[in-house]
Amino acid sequence: MTNQVYALIKILSDGQYHSGEALGKELDISRTAIWKIMNQLGQYGIYCQRLHGQGYCIPGGIEFLDEQLIQSQLNFDVKKMISKMDFHLSVDSTNQSLMARIKQGALPVLVSTAEHQTQGRGRRGRHWQSPFGKNIYLSFSWSFLDGPSKTAGLTLAIGLGIVEVLEHFGICDLGLKWPNDVLWQGKKLAGVLTEMHMDSLGVCHVVIGLGINVDLPKQAKADICQESVDLLQILNKRISRNTLFVALMNHLISLVSKFNEDGFSSFEKGWEKYDLLKNQQVMLRLMEHKIFGKALGIDCDGGLKVQHEDTVTTYHAGEISIRKKEENYEFID
Ligand code: BTN
Repeated sequence: MTNQVYALIKILSDGQYHSGEALGKELDISRTAIWKIMNQLGQYGIYCQRLHGQGYCIPGGIEFLDEQLIQSQLNFDVKKMISKMDFHLSVDSTNQSLMARIKQGALPVLVSTAEHQTQGRGRRGRHWQSPFGKNIYLSFSWSFLDGPSKTAGLTLAIGLGIVEVLEHFGICDLGLKWPNDVLWQGKKLAGVLTEMHMDSLGVCHVVIGLGINVDLPKQAKADICQESVDLLQILNKRISRNTLFVALMNHLISLVSKFNEDGFSSFEKGWEKYDLLKNQQVMLRLMEHKIFGKALGIDCDGGLKVQHEDTVTTYHAGEISIRKKEENYEFID
């Protein structure tokens, strides 16, 4: 991102209208140059409005993540655990950037966040919509010395942690859809993507990435194939991204520390309270296979139990859809 683009976004982050002339004066460039920069904002997922006679505005403005503020509000114990925190304006993917550092031997806990991701990754190779300055894109690393078996259920525990944080902000009606979706009234609000790297000593380095829709512009919403929702829509008021970010860091880093000690067993009961699939007729897509059955909840490793006729099988991967009650053959994500 060039300095001029950044400077322009900073001015427009107040959510007010600014005329091309005023912007040109502030940045000491022509109105044509302003217009050219405006045309670049789309590539950062910034949807600018232009009103004749008033100028340009970013609806709702932008609250930048404030590194100093965040650092000053992190709990002492959490701060002590973090070895490095990267705040990017725009990055390919916060998960990807941490994975690269881990492979170079950087030590945990690493944290990476960004205002914008060009290649935000969702589960199963999907793209994660990451418009500039509107949502939370947060990744952090953890190293499990005893290998990958110790990470079973981690994604689920993080989903539960997100729900617990969001409830503190007064949000009810939250649910968890195995393995990684946080839903509000059936719509996707947040997702978790954990990625792993094993080193030559058998240490399992995990990158835990989470995306939370805070104020998803409607153009971005329209590009998501699943019904989605954001915090602004749920609460009908804006919550501070900085406050939410600090709450997430404080809660989730302590949670993973506990997970490291106890494994998933101490999160199982909590997760069950929010399980949206239990006792539902489901279809699980596993590679080219489709498995139909009744979801029976999760096991102590976070696997999904599915009953098919008289057999119960536990699955650790796959994509699940719930069968709509009124329609026998249609499934919703
Ligand atoms: C999902 O498909 O539900 C998982 C979405 C995870 C998105 C987050 S945003 C921060 C981190 N960086 C990425 O590229 N992906 C995760």
